[in-house]
Amino acid sequence: MSMMSIRAATPRDREAIRLVEEHAFGQQTEAGLVDALVTGGDAVVELVADEDGQVVGHILFSRLFVQNGGKSFPAVALAPLAVEPSFHGTGIGGALVREAHIRLKAAGETLAVVLGDPAYYGRFGYSRARAAKFDSDYQSEALQALAWGEAPETGRLVYASAFGSALAA
Ligand SMILES: CC(C)(COP(=O)(O)OP(=O)(O)OC[C@H]1O[C@@H](n2cnc3c(N)ncnc32)[C@H](O)[C@@H]1OP(=O)(O)O)[C@@H](O)C(=O)NCCC(=O)NCCS
Repeated sequence: MSMMSIRAATPRDREAIRLVEEHAFGQQTEAGLVDALVTGGDAVVELVADEDGQVVGHILFSRLFVQNGGKSFPAVALAPLAVEPSFHGTGIGGALVREAHIRLKAAGETLAVVLGDPAYYGRFGYSRARAAKFDSDYQSEALQALAWGEAPETGRLVYASAFGSALAA
């Protein structure tokens, strides 16, 4: 019987993570983004789905700040999320998002944002309305937010520098 586990990414997973990202997105942009976020020290929660020792899924939440007046509120950005294509539709993406949320909450995080399809992220509690008032270069119908506690509803979203112009979720 196969065994799937969700666990924290380790330095030994880097090459396998790169391959999952490349296979899922069909390009190298997201894999490069992951490396840049980790190298830059901006990863907050990074998990892999491990199927019998093979990395078949990956999720990364990085530090993002909501700047409001003179204040800077720490939040997190979900990007990227990737599952090996041959494993799509088996619940791995959902398991990664839910386990990451548990760990983020336990660590005291109160706000996450994502740029993606509301039809997918809505099932995890992300809402367009919760993100609508943020000031962001990426403000659009795809920008969604999920708050677990007290967190700003307005302010400027400042992503980790690795995002540059290559933002993808
Ligand atoms: C998106 C992705 C991570 C989902 O992973 P997964 O393990 O297949 O997801 P799950 O098995 O947990 O959930 C599957 C469900 O999500 C739906 N789904 C998958 N991608 C979707 C999308 N882009 N928009 C809407 N629904 C989507 C499936 O139709 C399925 O729906 P169902 O539960 O009603 O049958 C995976 O398809 C993937 O790696 N895609 C390529 C990279 C990508 O697009 N990442 C996210 C960017 S927003």
